[in-house]
Amino acid sequence: MKKTLLIYYSYGGTTKHLAEELKNELKLDSHQLELKNDLQGIFKMVFKIPFLMMFKKCPALKPINIDFEQYDNIIIGMPVWMATFAAPIRTFIRDTNLSGKNIALFCSSGTNPGHVFADFKSLLPDNDYVSELKLKNAEKNLETSVIKLKGWASELF
Ligand SMILES: Cc1cc2nc3c(=O)[nH]c(=O)nc-3n(C[C@H](O)[C@H](O)[C@H](O)COP(=O)(O)O)c2cc1C
Repeated sequence: MKKTLLIYYSYGGTTKHLAEELKNELKLDSHQLELKNDLQGIFKMVFKIPFLMMFKKCPALKPINIDFEQYDNIIIGMPVWMATFAAPIRTFIRDTNLSGKNIALFCSSGTNPGHVFADFKSLLPDNDYVSELKLKNAEKNLETSVIKLKGWASELF
């Protein structure tokens, strides 16, 4: 049977909220990507995150104990940082074998999601991309975003 896995990273909690709503609605298996060393706090926000982003660094993730073989379809949710995907997503892409998976992408952003999905797809060009959803101003429009996300995801696979 074709199974769908939901993977997400969240820094401030918005993507997590969206992902959890989606997981409960569609009864999905899911996994929240977590960093070995968190990036919380003003100092890391101002210095460490821009450094990671500028130099395309891959901050270490906590181990992901998932048998990806079980899943044909992967939904990946991510916050936008500096007009692209948040740095932990880069680590996930680098460390995970997603070949042959059908991928659907959603992001949570402020006003400028930039080139988040083009950048993602440039790192994994051989996958089938089923659909993409940009949730702009997601934090301010949280409940509308949840509704949009659920509607989008219910049509995916
Ligand atoms: C370091 C950092 C950089 C960000 N850069 C952008 C950006 O370039 N464009 C944008 O629209 N929002 C940007 N945001 C806002 C987030 O994408 C937005 O608040 C998102 O909903 C956060 O999701 P989260 O709470 O799951 O981390 C940035 C937030 C942070 C913390």
